[in-house]
Order: sequence, then C-alpha cells, then structure tokens
Amino acid sequence: MAKENLFLCMGSACHQLGVYEVLPKLQMLIQTHKLEDILELKGSFCLETCSHGIVMKFKGQHFLNISSQNIEEKFTQEILPVIKAKLSHV
Ligand code: FES
Repeated sequence: MAKENLFLCMGSACHQLGVYEVLPKLQMLIQTHKLEDILELKGSFCLETCSHGIVMKFKGQHFLNISSQNIEEKFTQEILPVIKAKLSHV
C-alpha cells in the first residue's frame, strides 16, 4: 500500500522555531501509534504560514503553532484524528 505523506515544514522560520526538536518526537509518536507503515514523514519547504509557528500538513490540511512542547498533544488531539478520518483503513 502506498504511504501517505505527512509534511513537517523545514523552512527557515520553522527551523528557527526549533523544528529539529520536533522531528524526533514526531518520529516517536508515529512509531508509538504504529503508523510507520502508512505514513511517510517528509520535510517540506516553507508551507507559507510562517507566522503561525511550526507547521505541518497532511492531505492539504495545515496544522499550526506546533512546538517541541506541544507536539504530543497536537498530534493526538488534532493531527491523529484527521489522519484517521482521511485514511479510513487506519
Ligand atoms: S518556514 Fe515553515 S511555514 Fe514558512
């Protein structure tokens, strides 16, 4: 089955806000939720919402104001439900 891309912005604004601290936490969350077979975590160029903190995107939907402090909460409360809704087989 083809994997779906989950994008994490690696643009310069998000880089300055500490995206490299978010990345390992995100990789762990994907493993914890056993999503590694269906999700491909990809770095992305600027997602053009730089004023809204670190940004992620899944299937056209943006997730804003991410930080290394809130990524666990954001992932389980905002991002995971969208992934599950958009990939009905999860
Ligand atoms: S650098 Fe991340 S949204 Fe622009």
